Amino acid sequence: MIKILRYLKWKELVMILVILCVVVAQVYFELKLPDLMQDITRNVQTPGSPMSEIYRSGALMLLCTLASALLTLLLGYMSARISARFGQRLRLAVFNRVEDFSMEEVSRFSTASLITRSTNDVTQLQMFLVIGLQMVLRAPVIAIWALGKISAASWRWTALTGGAVACLLILILSTMSFAVPRFRKMQWLTDQLNRVARENLSGIRVVRAYNAESYQLEKFEKANMDITRNLLEAMRAMSVFPAGMTLINSGLTLGIYLVGAYLIAGAAGAAAKIAIFGEMIAFSTYAMMIVMAFMMLTILFIQLPRVMVSVRRVNEVLDTKPTIVDGTVTSSPEGRAGEIEFKNVSFKYPDAEEYVLHDISFTVRQGETVAFIGSTGSGKSTLINLVPRFYDVTEGQILIDGVDVRDYTLEALHNKIGYVPQRALLFTGTVASNIAYGDNGREKPTLEEIKKACGIAQADFVEQMEGGYDAHVAQGGTNFSGGQRQRLSIARAIARKPEIYIFDDAFSALDYKTDRALRAALRREMKGATCLIVAQRIGTIRDADKIVVLDEGRLVGIGTHDELMESCPVYQEIAYSQLSKEELGQ
Ligand SMILES: Nc1ncnc2c1ncn2[C@@H]1O[C@H](COP(=O)(O)OP(=O)(O)OP(=O)(O)O)[C@@H](O)[C@H]1O
Ligand SMILES: [Mg+2]
Repeated sequence: MIKILRYLKWKELVMILVILCVVVAQVYFELKLPDLMQDITRNVQTPGSPMSEIYRSGALMLLCTLASALLTLLLGYMSARISARFGQRLRLAVFNRVEDFSMEEVSRFSTASLITRSTNDVTQLQMFLVIGLQMVLRAPVIAIWALGKISAASWRWTALTGGAVACLLILILSTMSFAVPRFRKMQWLTDQLNRVARENLSGIRVVRAYNAESYQLEKFEKANMDITRNLLEAMRAMSVFPAGMTLINSGLTLGIYLVGAYLIAGAAGAAAKIAIFGEMIAFSTYAMMIVMAFMMLTILFIQLPRVMVSVRRVNEVLDTKPTIVDGTVTSSPEGRAGEIEFKNVSFKYPDAEEYVLHDISFTVRQGETVAFIGSTGSGKSTLINLVPRFYDVTEGQILIDGVDVRDYTLEALHNKIGYVPQRALLFTGTVASNIAYGDNGREKPTLEEIKKACGIAQADFVEQMEGGYDAHVAQGGTNFSGGQRQRLSIARAIARKPEIYIFDDAFSALDYKTDRALRAALRREMKGATCLIVAQRIGTIRDADKIVVLDEGRLVGIGTHDELMESCPVYQEIAYSQLSKEELGQ
């Protein structure tokens, strides 16, 4: 809890101090009321006391109430301001940290949980801060001050109030011990609910096509039911609370009056009786204030377990150091650009037992095009994802221009690379904003360059579209066809003008004609750039300088098409399954 408060600025800490002063002033005005009330009672009961006295006390009471109301307003304003800013800063910190996470951390937390953590959990904290600032300071100030005021009165009354507070504490502790574990579970259940809802929405087409609505509904209902049951259990325990509170309050008032009656009966003379009566009225108001103060604290305490869970969850994110750490090298050695060397690279996914890649070594010279082929699941994507460090190698080394990729700063490394993922992904915005996406350490591409990139990527359809380069792109690019999306994401890589291109199966959604035209244009335009291509089709990679054949994570062949047709059975098998012998020229 304390740790998270470092996200408060010193200005806000000063504001909290001001809040403390405001609370004290406010309590002062509030505690003035019973005193004035006591005066009025005494005046009313004393024959012959002037009316003006009563008016005066009444007017003072009104003023005190007004002052207290104004201060409450100020208090509300300041605490809302502090907590809103705090929430904003915390959300930003969480978002920033999550941006630095590698795939490993993201999958460890799960996307759903990361979303709840940066939204719901931060909101919990923020809400708590608003109430907390107003109540946590107020309650003890009131309690102590009021206690001071009444300690001079009869010890019997004080004892009664003490008893009532003790009862209240017992009530609080017993309900809390039941409710706290349930509140604790709440955030975890919210994650689950979020996960199911997210999965359902992002997979809506498949859900529809497979008539899986009822299956999804069942899953959602289960998550929903779990959260409801948990909340109900907690709330049921909490419902004892107001009833108990009323009982304690009424009991206390009754007790005070009973004791008062007893004292008044025992007092000698009318004046003494009236004095005791006035004291009693004042006392019961003070006593009620003390009980209320404790109750307010309780409201806070009820929230506390849930908030503590949120704090822990937010802290977990903030404290997680990304496993992919930045290096220090900002540029390649002079005169080298786009050389890649894999040195005995082995890799297994975090938390997995089995290695996905085994002892892979090869080199790519500047300007070469190297293709990767192999059956589904043979590790092609895994292999090339190691170059931009989506994961780090488990054993071995990957060198770019003779420098280990782990030694480059991530920014410098990513500036070298134009990456086209296996599943083309676009972002909300326009076609142009998607192609000019990101930052490559140089100037943003101009419209001319964007057009050129689209031309190379065979994305001519943009010109015919309504709105052209300003056409709207929906989240994930869902308003484009699979092939269009792929071409746009290729254009995005081209507009970046990188030294190294990585195409992960980026040509598979294209028809043969476009595939060929695109490759021809690429070869023309990106002379000097190194190119790693994962492909399924022999046709796509036939003229690559080098082809790497993968089988179950092992490198089983490397060479040109013709060499591999001679020497590599796995390659031959793939080739024969796709092309006839005549096409292969044999
Ligand atoms: N994030 C991950 N966590 C754990 N295992 C993974 C992960 N991603 C992939 N794998 C495993 O790694 C192996 C290789 O996957 P990879 O995606 O590299 O195959 P691929 O050759 O690209 O296949 P495809 O041609 O279908 O794209 C698979 O057996 C897969 O189960
Ligand atoms: Mg793949």
